[in-house]
Amino acid sequence: MIGKDIKTAVELLKNEQLVAIPTETVYGLAGNALSSRAVMEIFRVKNRPQFDPLIIHTDRFTKVEKYVRSIPQKGRLLAEAFMPGSMTLLLPKKDSIPDAVTSGSDLVAVRIPNHQMTLELLSELDFPLAAPSANPFGYISPTTAQHVDNQLGMKIPYILDGGQCRVGLESTIIGFEGEEAIIFRKGGLAVEAIEEVIGEVKIMTHSTSNPKSPGRLKSHYAPKTPFVIGNPNELVSEYLGKKIGIISFKKSIDQVPIEQQIILSKSGDYAEAGHNLFAGMRRLDGLNLDIIIAELLPEKDLGRAINDRLKRAGA
Ligand code: TXA
Ligand code: MG
Repeated sequence: MIGKDIKTAVELLKNEQLVAIPTETVYGLAGNALSSRAVMEIFRVKNRPQFDPLIIHTDRFTKVEKYVRSIPQKGRLLAEAFMPGSMTLLLPKKDSIPDAVTSGSDLVAVRIPNHQMTLELLSELDFPLAAPSANPFGYISPTTAQHVDNQLGMKIPYILDGGQCRVGLESTIIGFEGEEAIIFRKGGLAVEAIEEVIGEVKIMTHSTSNPKSPGRLKSHYAPKTPFVIGNPNELVSEYLGKKIGIISFKKSIDQVPIEQQIILSKSGDYAEAGHNLFAGMRRLDGLNLDIIIAELLPEKDLGRAINDRLKRAGA
């Protein structure tokens, strides 16, 4: 069921049941992070392998401190700047966080989402919420309550409807090696914004050889329609006679019906492009196309996270 009643969500979560929750990045499939039963249910409903750990969500920094053993200086600066926000920090976990949440890792991923409804929900709970993106494993993350309902509606009792996600890209995941910050997943908080606060950061390029973080696996966030990256104007001629979908940054192309094209941002605004990306990918994926051709954005600002998702959809 889709609804806007925070009390219903609170009751279900207190009873170890799952609720899909809105955040500014993407919708999450949430359960009590301290309940092994709720955590197991998240893995089951998402069809997610046990080796892929979950992010925990709270509403206040003092609560973050309850679940982690230490926070490096740069982590504190980032928390001050971007909590709440589209950022997740990897920090050494306390024993109260079940191993099932972190897939056995000593680190737990923590985030304070910047969404009023979910902040209110979290403030009513005395436990954090474990929440992966509310999509079946490997598919595109949901950015509306309807997206969640389409795929998981039959499997969960409640979807809290907080409207369309403002950012539309998953959080940027940041870990630490000693005092150095490392970006493990590019996301809805731009690298440039992070570097303004803590100086230059290292970015881990994703690797298929590390199954411990499938968000970083090469093929992920993928539509069912075949998907290629390249210059749409050049590639359309290679697929003559096929039903083609286009994802482009600013401009449509002449050879393809306009309903089969997603223009991410006519004005070239990266935030708008990010906001439109996943909903656009889902829409095209529902049109029974033979092929989707997507163009990469300039590798700056949120263009980096958008390109990362496009490349993985095409892998
Ligand atoms: O914006 C987001 O981050 C959304 C919303 C719902 O908060 N959540 C999300 O969760 O994207 P998920 O599970 O789809 O992606 C989380 C990524 C996964 O790739 C996982 O491997 C990584 O975070 N991760 C979680 N805990 C980790 C840990 N302890 N160590 C390393 N990676 C971790
Ligand atoms: Mg996900």
